[in-house]
Amino acid sequence: MAEEQPQEDYQLVTQHMVMSEHLNPNHHIFGGQLLAWLDTDVYLYCSNKLRYKSMVTVSMNNVYFKAPGYLGDIIQIYARLKHIGRSSATAEGKAIAYDPEKQTSREIIACEVTYVAVGPNGKPVRIFERK
Ligand SMILES: CC(C)(COP(=O)(O)OP(=O)(O)OC[C@H]1O[C@@H](n2cnc3c(N)ncnc32)[C@H](O)[C@@H]1OP(=O)(O)O)[C@@H](O)C(=O)NCCC(=O)NCCS
Repeated sequence: MAEEQPQEDYQLVTQHMVMSEHLNPNHHIFGGQLLAWLDTDVYLYCSNKLRYKSMVTVSMNNVYFKAPGYLGDIIQIYARLKHIGRSSATAEGKAIAYDPEKQTSREIIACEVTYVAVGPNGKPVRIFERK
């Protein structure tokens, strides 16, 4: 099993325990579940970094399912900002299966998520110029 450490400029956002309801028929974590965790958790990371709460996901790119996750795995979600535009922010996210007993980490998915800051009408607004 490959051991990997998250890159230093990634920040740990949150952790999840893989339960039976997260599995697909192959008994691996369902990919849609990982995408949902990444979408939500990378959003929380960006929201805290940018101090902006009203953002929508516009894209998830470069999704790479690198290795399977299994029942009982502890999944750590890491994120780092990649780009801040006028109304959008793109962050890289990754999920690591971490074993606290063996102190090993295994990367299972990586992707980029772009969020757009929106005003009350749902239209894009400049990130650093909102009231
Ligand atoms: C996100 C949304 C508000 C953008 O509206 P829009 O009129 O297309 O906005 P614009 O063309 O002015 O683009 C706004 C920003 O999004 C970026 N963007 C637009 N499409 C993109 C894409 N496919 N990938 C990455 N960035 C994108 C633009 O580059 C721009 O960035 P910048 O302001 O930093 O330069 C609109 O597409 C939308 O409401 N989408 C649905 C969002 C949603 O429901 N998400 C799921 C639930 S959260």
